[in-house]
Amino acid sequence: MTITGSKQKQIAVLTGGGDAPGLNAVIRGLTVNAIRYGYDVLGLIDGWRGLLDGGDAKTLDLDEVENIHMMGGTILHTSRTNPYKVEGGVEQVKENLKRLNCEYLVAIGGEDTLGVAAKLHKDGINVIGVPKTIDNDLSETDYTFGFNTAVERAAEAIQNLHTTAASHHRIIIVEVMGRHAGWMTLEAGIAGGASAILLPEEEYDVDELVQIVKNREKRGKAYTIIAASEGALAKGGDLKFKDDRVDAFGHKILGGIAERLSKTLEERTGKECRHVVLGHLQRAGKPSPFDINLGIRLGVHAADMIEKEEFGMMASLKGTEIVSVPLEAAVGKLKVVPKHRINEARLFYELENEKMSVM
Ligand code: F6P
Repeated sequence: MTITGSKQKQIAVLTGGGDAPGLNAVIRGLTVNAIRYGYDVLGLIDGWRGLLDGGDAKTLDLDEVENIHMMGGTILHTSRTNPYKVEGGVEQVKENLKRLNCEYLVAIGGEDTLGVAAKLHKDGINVIGVPKTIDNDLSETDYTFGFNTAVERAAEAIQNLHTTAASHHRIIIVEVMGRHAGWMTLEAGIAGGASAILLPEEEYDVDELVQIVKNREKRGKAYTIIAASEGALAKGGDLKFKDDRVDAFGHKILGGIAERLSKTLEERTGKECRHVVLGHLQRAGKPSPFDINLGIRLGVHAADMIEKEEFGMMASLKGTEIVSVPLEAAVGKLKVVPKHRINEARLFYELENEKMSVM
């Protein structure tokens, strides 16, 4: 089959924000389907920076995207650039799209990148969004790609920590990424058999954690594993940041909860505590088959959306189908863990177990 860019119309594609496993799968799905329709595809380098002056781009053809779906990271690189924070940024974006001969734009990213995409649509650009984030906190989609891989990484780490924690009779606190949404900690904590799961959605109580450790000791379990979201907060406490640096979207770098809690629990229980920060290992490396398939399907759908001129919309997973939803609805509100999911997790807390055995 000979495939050519016969329509001579070009789609620009960029990846923005933190990388997530599955980005290259989207790029492959989009490129293959777009070429089938007869479009040319241009990859913008470094997210929105690729559309600002001095930005870089490369043509994506079938050779360029062959087998990239198996690779982690993004072949287009990424940045946390915000054109709305750059003087004349929107004009630069428009001029560069024109100069590069791109009538259409596909933005693959999370809340920040897609927030920019939604605004650019209002500013007259033919843009389509594809949702990405290991945090799984985007509204209007059941899952984001990258999340499944990140949960697998975190769950495996927590599962493995049981043997060393048990051998030394220690408490181990595992810090999981996710910013202000606890999805990764919730699912990895349950899969990893953590005795407490601390989420940003509900303040935790240090007294209760001490009680969990004691209850476990009574039951002959001299070790405890705690999964803690980087954005979780103790009752009456303040959210702590690594430092005061703020990115172009107003985010500070979270982290440090595991180390701080480790010190507190060592003092309160008299037991040896250790902490593990999973950090970027959660999103590094190759995507899971689930994320590859989700990414490819979203990319294929994004090319369909261009062909149907569904601008200002986002490709989204609803149930088992990929559909188109308004970008604005997706970025309007963060999707956090609902109460009933937190209650499900609490069933497995040791304190709850004791209550149950007392009844
Ligand atoms: O949003 C994805 C994410 O990995 C968060 O879970 C985390 O807080 C943040 O990005 C880390 O950002 P950076 O890669 O800039 O350190």
